[in-house]
Amino acid sequence: MQINFVAGEAKASSKTAVSVPVFEGGVLSPAAEAVDQATGGGVARAIAGGRFTGAKGQVLDLVAPTGLDVQRVILVGVGDKDAFDAQGAETFGADSFQAAKGSGAEVLRISLPAAPAEFPPRAAFGARLAAYRFDKYRTTEKPEKKPSVVAVEIAAHDPAAASAAFAPLSALADAVLFARGLVSEPANILHPEEFARRVKALESLGLEVEILGEAEMTKLGMGALLGVGQGSRRESQLAVVQWKGAADPKAPPVAFVGKGVCFDTGGISLKPADGMEDMKWDMGGAAAVAGVMHALAGRKAKVNAVGVLGLVENMPDGNAQRPGDVVTSMSGQTIEVINTDAEGRLVLADALWYCQDRFKPRFMIDLATLTGAIIISLGNDYAGLFSNDDDLSENLLAASKATGEPLWRLPLPAQYEKQIESMIADMKNIGGRAGGSITAGLFLQKFANGLPWAHLDIASTAWKKPSTASSIPEGATGFGVRLLNQLVADKYED
Ligand code: BES
Ligand code: MN
Ligand code: ZN
Repeated sequence: MQINFVAGEAKASSKTAVSVPVFEGGVLSPAAEAVDQATGGGVARAIAGGRFTGAKGQVLDLVAPTGLDVQRVILVGVGDKDAFDAQGAETFGADSFQAAKGSGAEVLRISLPAAPAEFPPRAAFGARLAAYRFDKYRTTEKPEKKPSVVAVEIAAHDPAAASAAFAPLSALADAVLFARGLVSEPANILHPEEFARRVKALESLGLEVEILGEAEMTKLGMGALLGVGQGSRRESQLAVVQWKGAADPKAPPVAFVGKGVCFDTGGISLKPADGMEDMKWDMGGAAAVAGVMHALAGRKAKVNAVGVLGLVENMPDGNAQRPGDVVTSMSGQTIEVINTDAEGRLVLADALWYCQDRFKPRFMIDLATLTGAIIISLGNDYAGLFSNDDDLSENLLAASKATGEPLWRLPLPAQYEKQIESMIADMKNIGGRAGGSITAGLFLQKFANGLPWAHLDIASTAWKKPSTASSIPEGATGFGVRLLNQLVADKYED
């Protein structure tokens, strides 16, 4: 998708769809006003006749308006005039793209010529996120089914300034789209080694990437992670990504740890067939971590950061681990594997321990599509936040507000630890149906070694079908990338 910033009065063509914001109550923005004048009151007439009020997300098409050489003008509702902010501009950009993409127009002109300077870049950001489409495996799609819009122009008061302000947002969009691309890939393509290769390729951004294979992980004693992968023909991998952007390259890093189960069949505790294809996106946590590292490098963030990705495939075969097996984690703690489908926490147990042991980070945040129970608790928009540290939680919740990636904090009551006590080992890997996401969090906490730590259960938010936000098309969301990038930018840079 090509994105350019142009002056408000730049000439359009008959292949162009122009989108203009309209506020609640049918109040015209300056851009809408200009269209109204050029069309001899066409905008006001169109609004007068129908139900369009300018409420958020509403759209109204003026096709082939007299007086303007454009294919159509799209009126996009942006809600209350006084509440229209940069976030609103982003949504406006995304809504505009969604409304125009199948219209036949080849160019979308998003008009914000009189808006504050930060609005046009944010609208461009919204349009880029909205335009994401995973279509690399479609070979026979009819042209009329493909999006018609191939270029987006943002009309801004100062196009050069807007373009410069868009650069960091564009780098962030690259990172979000990188994460979405990983999540969208099917598991026959994106197995642990292929995932590791794609992370290794991020060295071109200035990241340092090490890939550990099974031999190295065996030496480190990662029996929990390796147990999950032992039923797979694919080799398990641990990807370790470092960004050294702080003035002191030895300063303690912030750390992100991701669950990268490239496919989760459940193992011997096999999942039902219905919906199992969803488990290709059980690596959404690792994808988000890769995306965050991409984002930090992309904008040369003044911070040291580490990403640790546990990459495995959970398969049932003759070598697979059995319910009842006891594994020894790198921490030395033993785990009775009651259910091989509770595999994410086993992967994270070793990835978290390795991370704190090697890097002594300022904090660790893990991201994981960990439990179906979080979907029952929070629905499809909120990810669960679990933490042993109130400051870290507050900072995460603030970043969540700023980016529109919703989090909800849940407790980690010590008395629930009883549910994961084992008769024969230090703990067992499931705690029953009651508070399933919480007992998973309590399990992970045992591997944070007392460091400030937070766990984001993103099983609810990693994949959207149907979509609930115009900047997030159906499918992979890239949830977590913007959130954690914002967290670092707001609180942890030099
Ligand atoms: N990957 C799943 C969790 C999941 C479910 C993610 C639905 C996305 C959508 C995880 O490995 C799992 O199987 N969890 C079990 C845990 C149970 C066995 C304690 C679950 O949630 O049912
Ligand atoms: Mn599972
Ligand atoms: Zn899983």
